[in-house]
Amino acid sequence: MTRKFFVGGNWKLNGTRDFVETFVPILNASPSENVEVVVAPPSPLIALVRGRLREDWGVSAQNCWKVAAGAFTGEISAELAKDVGAKWVILGHSERRTIFHESDELIAEKVAHALAIDLKVIACIGETLAEREAGQTLDVVYRQLKAIAGKVSNWSGVVIAYEPVWAIGTGKVATPAQAQEVHAALRTWLTSNVSVDASSSTRIIYGGSVTADNCNELAKQGDIDGFLVGGASLKPDFVKIVNAKL
Ligand code: G3P
Repeated sequence: MTRKFFVGGNWKLNGTRDFVETFVPILNASPSENVEVVVAPPSPLIALVRGRLREDWGVSAQNCWKVAAGAFTGEISAELAKDVGAKWVILGHSERRTIFHESDELIAEKVAHALAIDLKVIACIGETLAEREAGQTLDVVYRQLKAIAGKVSNWSGVVIAYEPVWAIGTGKVATPAQAQEVHAALRTWLTSNVSVDASSSTRIIYGGSVTADNCNELAKQGDIDGFLVGGASLKPDFVKIVNAKL
């Protein structure tokens, strides 16, 4: 089964209305054949980005809460994100896990709620440098994936993002071999624990210091189906990453 290449641009807590007005036209001018592209601005900019971005590219929230409404000051709901134009939500990002102390269980509950209202999910997993150096990489990502997989019945709305924490924002991108090794192990895990169909159809994308200079070598790996891009997604070179498979 061929898996459509997928590239997400995670703006994190960056961007303004003026930035949207000047940057999104650059994105709209980019070729993008045989690739699914999603842009994830900070929540207050979702509606504006949706209104300015080309129709063939999607918009994502960067997070959401696990229920629709209530006394959860500061939170955003999957429902509201969808209402203002998001069709995707990033969940389990390492910054949510480390800075905001989100557990595997909470992330799984969020995944379940987002999927239940037909919001598609970019589910993030990845090990820290200490865990990698201790030889625990696969134990960690299997544990994280198991928690998420327990809440997924329809995998067509899920993209898995492997983001080694030690590569995020550091400039220390995983080598193609390092990334491929983990991606292949995750795909085998899906085959063994979910189904052959889920394994062969689910995109597993890489995130962590992806740039226009390193994306093509990474994209050549058989189990790397795209990227989740942080810093580079805020620059015109993002369109080179979108077209890494051309
Ligand atoms: O979600 C993508 C992000 O964590 C990667 O960040 O800046 O290393 O591309 P960056």
